[in-house]
Amino acid sequence: MQEKWWHKSVVYQIYPKSFNDTNGDGIGDIKGIIEKLDYLNTLGVDYLWISPLYKSPMVDNGYDISDYEDINPLYGTMADMDLLLLESKKRGIGILMDLVINHTSDQHPWFLESKKSKDNPYRDYYIWKDEPNDLGSTFGGKAWTYDDHTKQYYFHNFAKEQPDLNWDNPKIMDEITKMILFWMNKGVAGFRLDVIDLIGKDIENKITANGPTLHPRIKQLSEQTFLTKDILTVGETWGATPEIAKLYSDPARKELSMIFQFEHMTLDWGHYGKWTPKPLDFIQLKQTLFKWQQEIHPAWNSLFWNNHDLPRVVSRFGNPEQYHFESASFFAIMLHLMKGTPYIYQGEEIGMTNVEFDDLSDYDDIEIKNSYQDFVLDTKRMTKQDFMTGVYRMGRDNARTPMQWTDGNEAGFTTGKPFLKVNPNYKTINVEDNLKNKDSLFYVYQHLIKLRKNSPYSQTIVYGDFIPLDLNHKSIVAYQRTSEDYTLLVVGNYGEQPVQLPAYAKGKKVLFSNYKDQVDTLRPYEIIIFVE
Ligand code: GLC
Ligand code: CA
Repeated sequence: MQEKWWHKSVVYQIYPKSFNDTNGDGIGDIKGIIEKLDYLNTLGVDYLWISPLYKSPMVDNGYDISDYEDINPLYGTMADMDLLLLESKKRGIGILMDLVINHTSDQHPWFLESKKSKDNPYRDYYIWKDEPNDLGSTFGGKAWTYDDHTKQYYFHNFAKEQPDLNWDNPKIMDEITKMILFWMNKGVAGFRLDVIDLIGKDIENKITANGPTLHPRIKQLSEQTFLTKDILTVGETWGATPEIAKLYSDPARKELSMIFQFEHMTLDWGHYGKWTPKPLDFIQLKQTLFKWQQEIHPAWNSLFWNNHDLPRVVSRFGNPEQYHFESASFFAIMLHLMKGTPYIYQGEEIGMTNVEFDDLSDYDDIEIKNSYQDFVLDTKRMTKQDFMTGVYRMGRDNARTPMQWTDGNEAGFTTGKPFLKVNPNYKTINVEDNLKNKDSLFYVYQHLIKLRKNSPYSQTIVYGDFIPLDLNHKSIVAYQRTSEDYTLLVVGNYGEQPVQLPAYAKGKKVLFSNYKDQVDTLRPYEIIIFVE
C-alpha cells in the first residue's frame, strides 16, 4: 500500500459553537480555539476538523452557509482565522475545514437572486419544480417548500432554510472549485465533505444518495482542487458499504482520502430511526467494524464513535454512572488499535456524557425541533414522552453541550450565559481534573495516540494486518494486529459480568490496559493490549 501522511494521523473535531468562548457572549469562538491549541498539542492530535466557521444565519449552526469566503462574526474575523492557521501550524497541527456543498443557506446571495424570478441568472443554481414529489426532509416534513413569489417549489434535503444546490448546473462546479481553491491558498490542510453522497442526486427518479453523477463529480472536483496539493479529504457518507467506500477512496480512482461510514452508528436505530432506539447487539457491532477492517482495502478507514451529530459513546454503549472510566476507555482502546485514521470528538477524551433537559425549549438543535413538529405534533406518530426518550438517547445536542473545561462557573466555557446549558456533571467530568490525575481518561487517549504515532508499535498499528478473533462471543472483543516486527492482541470484555481471560491471551506480555493489574478474568469493561 502506498503510504500517505494521513495514514499516521489522528484528527480532533471541534464544534466551534460549544468549544470555548472568550468574549462572554455564550458562544465559542476562533480565539477560543487558539487559546486551547496547547491543550490539543498535549493530547497529541495532528489535525483539527472544525465544523463550519463560515458566515451563516445559524439555523443549523453553520451547516447553512450564506458566504463561503467569509467568517461568521459570531466566531470572529478573517484575521482571527489567519491567526488560527498560523498558530496551529507552529504547533504542527493542520486545520480541516468543513465543506458544505450540497446546500447553502436560504440567505446566500445566490438563493436570494434565485428566488427573484424564473429567468434570474441564478435560478438554476437551485432545484425548482412546479410540482413536488413525495421526497421527505432528513429533519422531518417535506423536502419541498413553496415559494409564493414565483409559484414554484424548491428542494431542500434538510431544513427549508437549507436549499439544495443544483449540481446539474455546471456553474455550481465552477463556483465551488473557486471557493475550495480560496481556502487551499490560505493553507488549510484538508476538508471534511458534508453529506457529499447527495451531490449526484436524480430528483426525477427520487434518488438522493449515491446518484448516477456522484462519482464523476467528486473526481472532477478533486482533480481541480484537492489532488493538486494532496490534502486530506474525508467524505460524510451515510449508508456507505465497503463496496461503496472503495468507489470514493480507492486511491486509483482519485476521489477522496477516506470516508465516514455509519453502519456501526445505526445498529441501534429502530422503527423511526434514531428516535426509537433499540438495545445494542454487541456481536453485530463487532462484526460490523471488523467487516470494515477486512473489506476496505485498497481504500482507507476512518475510525470514530462520536461527532457533532451523534450521542456520546460512553452514554450510548457504556455505563457512565457505575463504570464511567472503564467503559469510556474500553471503547477508546477497542477503536484506536484498529486500522484507519482515528477521529476524536471534543470532550470524548474526558468522557463527556449525554444530557437530559426537562424542557424542549432547553434544546437548540433544529433536527430535534423539526422532528418534534413532524413526529409528535403533525403526524402524531410518537407521544411527546417517547420522543423525549429518543432525544435523551440520540439527540444531537447530547454532543453539543459546552465543553467542560473546569468545575467552575459554566464549566469554564464562558463567563456569560451559554447558548445551550452545560451538562450538570461538569463538576466531576472536566479537563482540569483530567489533566491533574495521571490515571484519567485524557491520558488514556494521549497514550493511544503516542502508541500509534510514536512508539515501536507504530508501524504495526498503522499498517499491520487485522485478524478478528472470537467473532461470535457475546461480550469478548478480540483482534490481532500483525506485522513483521510485532503481534498486538487486543482483548476486552464488553459488559459488567466478569469472563475468563481467553486461553490465547494467557501469559502474554501486557502493553497497556484500563485496569492497573491483571487477573485471570476480565472485569467489567476491562480491555488489554498484549504484545509479542
Ligand atoms: C451533516 C452534518 C449535520 C448537518 C447536515 C446538513 O449531516 O453533519 O450536522 O445538519 O449535514 O448540513
Ligand atoms: Ca464568543
